[in-house]
Amino acid sequence: MSTPILSTDFPETLKQAVTEAVKLLSSGEVVALPTETVYGLAADALNADAVAKIFAAKERPTFDPLIVHVPHKKDLDVVADVPEDIAPTIRKLIEKFWPGPLTLILPKKPEVPDIVTAGLPTVAVRASQNLVFNRVARSLDRPLAAPSANRFGSISPTSAAAVHSELDGRIPLILDGGACHFGLESTILKVEAASPKAKLIILRPGPITAEDLKPFGKPVAIKNLKDDEKPEAPGLLSSHYAPRTPLRLLESPDDFILEEGKSYALMSYRGEPDDGYTDLADWKMMQILSPGKGKLPEAAVRFFYALRALDECGADEIIAEALPDRGLGVAMMDRLRRAASLR
Ligand code: TXA
Ligand code: MG
Repeated sequence: MSTPILSTDFPETLKQAVTEAVKLLSSGEVVALPTETVYGLAADALNADAVAKIFAAKERPTFDPLIVHVPHKKDLDVVADVPEDIAPTIRKLIEKFWPGPLTLILPKKPEVPDIVTAGLPTVAVRASQNLVFNRVARSLDRPLAAPSANRFGSISPTSAAAVHSELDGRIPLILDGGACHFGLESTILKVEAASPKAKLIILRPGPITAEDLKPFGKPVAIKNLKDDEKPEAPGLLSSHYAPRTPLRLLESPDDFILEEGKSYALMSYRGEPDDGYTDLADWKMMQILSPGKGKLPEAAVRFFYALRALDECGADEIIAEALPDRGLGVAMMDRLRRAASLR
């Protein structure tokens, strides 16, 4: 059976959609919901059988732990214990960034089933700022486990239509909250006490950038840690954000060599001929992330949409221009490197 999509555009449709979602979630079902980052596939985080349905629908291996979304900031205590030595830093981070796209890794409460955390002693927690998600979470008044609503390893969905193409027939309901505000998955952070400044280990770069985090401690990218310093983050190694079409990330247009008989599609940052990419080939499709001057937040919102369109256009290979490796560009470059590294 095809999965229904419910609109939330009007007060009346929003109310009906929330009621329907809450009914399903309280009976142990999964529902796809919009968040400010990407669409999530939600289930009651404290119900192991419900959470198992997330893994089944996504074909996600059970060693990859899920993010838990709490209805209110104060509900952090329901799922996590905050160690005393990092409590002041955690409090400040939550004050500044919640509800919003910052996920914190903290010791888990015993009430959180092992399936949620893949047996880890820690849990990933955030509070979403999306209106539809919040209405559902607050009506249900329970934490919601919600990974991105795509098949495992595939491109994260930033629209209800994208969720539908990933999970149609595998889940009972999708709520349509329109396009996602940020378009990239949350920043995942592990905080370690250190002197003179707390160490803020960025396990996954996202909308909250290293620059944003600076006032709260010393941001460190995980790739800059030695192997024996790396925290355990099993899923991060295996999340690929991968299109089915091979993707090549080019640092410079000079690196491109055209192969006769092969068709190519381009993901361009600004679409400016002066950047040297637009005239390199007879592109089957060109997706421009932020035409003109190039603005990273605009590029981020369009990023997964563009990647999905390029994947579906039938080209033999996707060529991606390198983006500026700063601010939100760091998160997009991380996704592109993972997508490219698969082949
Ligand atoms: O923006 C987001 O974070 C979206 C929306 C739906 O909230 N969710 C999302 O979830 O991106 P997912 O499952 O696609 O990515 C979660 C990542 C995985 O790579 C997983 O390995 C990591 O979080 N993770 C979860 N629990 C962890 C833990 N205890 N320690 C380290 N990493 C963890
Ligand atoms: Mg994901």
